[in-house]
Amino acid sequence: MLTDDELQRISAFMKQRYGIELGEKKVIVNGRLQNYVKRNGWNNYHEFMDAVERDKTGTQEKILVNYLTTNHTYFMREFEHFDYARKVALPWAKKKAEATKDLRVWCGAASTGEEPYMIAMVLSDFFGLEKNQWDLRVLATDISTKALQQAMLGIYSAEQLQKLPEQWKRHFFKALAGGEQYQVTDELKQQLIFRQFNLMDDFPFKKKMHIIFLRNVMIYFNDETKRKVVQKVYDALEPGGYFFIGTTETIDRGSTPFQIIQPSIFRKREGM
Ligand SMILES: C[S@@+](CC[C@H](N)C(=O)[O-])C[C@H]1O[C@@H](n2cnc3c(N)ncnc32)[C@H](O)[C@@H]1O
Repeated sequence: MLTDDELQRISAFMKQRYGIELGEKKVIVNGRLQNYVKRNGWNNYHEFMDAVERDKTGTQEKILVNYLTTNHTYFMREFEHFDYARKVALPWAKKKAEATKDLRVWCGAASTGEEPYMIAMVLSDFFGLEKNQWDLRVLATDISTKALQQAMLGIYSAEQLQKLPEQWKRHFFKALAGGEQYQVTDELKQQLIFRQFNLMDDFPFKKKMHIIFLRNVMIYFNDETKRKVVQKVYDALEPGGYFFIGTTETIDRGSTPFQIIQPSIFRKREGM
């Protein structure tokens, strides 16, 4: 079992590099890492962390992050956001980007792809026949390379697709041999740009975003980290742009520069 001292070292590392607070989650951290550590012949977690810190290629760190991030997500999660996007945010964004036909949407905790694919399907639906005249690619980023690999593959079980509208299933997925699994169509996949990105880093975007989704990730951050990320999101948005967080998450109302539309929907004021 992981000692308090080892937990402390792993927690401090994850917090400092990724903002992720592991705190007292000893059983979880142990459960996720023990097989890997044992398989590779390290005698304890300090030896493993020495290897992580020594490995200049970053491979061991990547593996650590893949084990310690929680990638839970599902299709149709918090559908009210997509509904709001369709009814309010997208009509606004379409008008705003009319001249360039370049609509910029970023999903910053894309995990295994369900959320960015939802966004892409909503965009497809919303633009309909006009779709081909627009650049509607969605930037999908996450810190976990394992989750991103799954997202890029775009293969889901019939059960995972269960709640999707039939029409979307038919249009955006193809059944794989055996009929138990489905894969997103190449057309939908091409609507996404996958990249690894750490939300702790400076946001590198040359152009401002119209809509940013950062749902169910800031729950792992402390208040100070959250405030910094929210400020970076604010700076990365077009005036009038929309920001969605998870419905069970909060941001500090007192300090946020955002206009609060609903507890999990925010807007940068026009003209800011
Ligand atoms: C619980 S999932 C949420 C997925 C999706 N947004 C949703 O709401 O269903 C949280 C994701 O945040 C990612 N994550 C955690 N810390 C991160 C960081 N510092 N930078 C980027 N992604 C991070 C994790 O890898 C994980 O895939």
